[in-house]
Amino acid sequence: MAVSAVAEPQSFSDPVAILNRALRAAIVKALGEEHADIDPAIRAIQNPQFGDYQVNVAMGLAKQLPGSGNPRQLAAKILAAAPPELGDIADKLEVAGPGFINIRLKTEALGRFLQAMDTAQLGVQRETDTHPIAIDLCGVNVAKQMHVGHLRSTIIGDSLARVLERRGRRVLRENHLGDWGLPIAMVLRELREKRVNLDALQLDDLDRAYRDAQKKAENDEAALEAAKKTLVKLQNNDPALVRDWHKLIDCTMRAVYESFDLLSVNLGPENNRGESFYRDRLPGVVDAFVRSGIAHEDQGAIIVRFDDRERPLIIRKSDGGYLYGTTDLAAVRYRVQELGADRVIYVVDARQRDHFRDVFDAAHKIGWDRTKDGARAELIHVGFGSVLGADHKPLKTRSGENVTLKTLLVEAIARGVAEVTKRAEDPTAPTHGLPESDLQAIGKAVGIGAVKFADLSNDLVRDYEFNLDRMVAFEGRTGPYLQYAHARVCSIFAKAGIGMHGAGAIRSDFRIVEPAEHRLALALLKYGGVVADVARTLEPHRLCTYLYDLADAYSTFYQECPVLKADDPATRQARLRLCDLVRRVLADGLGLLGIDAPRRM
Ligand code: ARG
Repeated sequence: MAVSAVAEPQSFSDPVAILNRALRAAIVKALGEEHADIDPAIRAIQNPQFGDYQVNVAMGLAKQLPGSGNPRQLAAKILAAAPPELGDIADKLEVAGPGFINIRLKTEALGRFLQAMDTAQLGVQRETDTHPIAIDLCGVNVAKQMHVGHLRSTIIGDSLARVLERRGRRVLRENHLGDWGLPIAMVLRELREKRVNLDALQLDDLDRAYRDAQKKAENDEAALEAAKKTLVKLQNNDPALVRDWHKLIDCTMRAVYESFDLLSVNLGPENNRGESFYRDRLPGVVDAFVRSGIAHEDQGAIIVRFDDRERPLIIRKSDGGYLYGTTDLAAVRYRVQELGADRVIYVVDARQRDHFRDVFDAAHKIGWDRTKDGARAELIHVGFGSVLGADHKPLKTRSGENVTLKTLLVEAIARGVAEVTKRAEDPTAPTHGLPESDLQAIGKAVGIGAVKFADLSNDLVRDYEFNLDRMVAFEGRTGPYLQYAHARVCSIFAKAGIGMHGAGAIRSDFRIVEPAEHRLALALLKYGGVVADVARTLEPHRLCTYLYDLADAYSTFYQECPVLKADDPATRQARLRLCDLVRRVLADGLGLLGIDAPRRM
């Protein structure tokens, strides 16, 4: 398994960062300055018999530098040039096999690293860049139910935001609502025609009006024309129409906020900056593109062409209307040049890949990927796959309609509550006898944790099956399994009669003796590197895998190393301290996934 190769400044508690630095120095000393940028290729070893890490760099180097000796000789040369720092932390340091370097860390070094990690930061390094990062998430459309795709965007975007914030970055969560354009005008016209009372509007009415309006516009030229007229009126700020438009938005957003609330995501009205926000900036976008010679007229439309693809990006239609892409260009410009973001992350369905490719390339052409202070901004589309039903087709209800988000969440919570309630019946369960309201709260955390973990734990572009039975199970790679692992660590402290504050005050050195403790220590020390990896790659599944591995290392430790019944008080204290660190890393890591970690389950 590859481990983090990003060397960071003060990574006192990340052995890989320290090994990286030492090995780079050794390579330069042995082979010359021109190799300063080489990646030592440090990998975690699965079989502890050989050590903790394996360094693979000599194999590649031998190929690159003919005449420099075979990989074993090169590895030996690098080892001979290693700074004393390496000897200080490793008790095994040897050339093995065809030319690896195997390294095992000294147990005292592990103790020192854990000590350094044991702060509120838990080994997570903070980035120093002060530019904000913008995350485009949710993107629900007004007058429609929030669907599963918006659920994924919200969950993934919220988790990425938490990870980046944890790394010390300022994050702007941008909810790019679909609240402008012809579809909205069509619905407005439909509602007015039917004389629907907009003050008593329900989302279902809106949904229905949306479908009816769409059908009419498809079959009836006059209806389409009328909708276009309505749009022009709306664009010209017709007061009555604008008032109705707000009612539509309010009705949609009420339901969206209810879902946010069920989901416990950090998202609210303050994050709304929808398509309508950019409406006055659209003519300026087209203007800028035409003036700089990047866009051209083509049969009355204004388009941007790219050298490497047939399809152009249309930024103004021949009837003068603007498009989804025009708004996105205005948004790039705003986010980078006005908000100053040096990374703009679009968490949007993978099927919009071509759209974002065109928008990003157009933005690069015109130079809107530079902040005012000259930093280059990265524009990234984090695409995700579809959520499938048991039949492996996109999720539908029995009557064939798109499943609404709320139904899914309510169902997930009900399953969580049922599971937690059932477990609480066992007289030995830590939840036995808890009041109903506590069980409800724990059940909600379990149900939502299950949905979020399932959403985040695979490669994001993969489609996945929405299978509540599997997601809510306490066994396997699930959110509830990790929540339960955390609650089990907490229960040790409850049994020992130490409250959670007491847990933090345990005064003992870390003492890493047994193989299971060694493995657990290595797992803990990876945390900061994993969070850095997720911040860089924007792949939350790395954190999911990590937490699962940590829980696994903990469960082996728990079987092999008695804590409360340890042989002597010093061992007991040292192990309690290790447990406390595990508990905090699990809770922190789950928190970055947006998952609550109840103390009792
Ligand atoms: N409203 C769009 C949809 O439902 C998603 C918006 C994504 N964000 C963006 N900047 N285009 O497909």
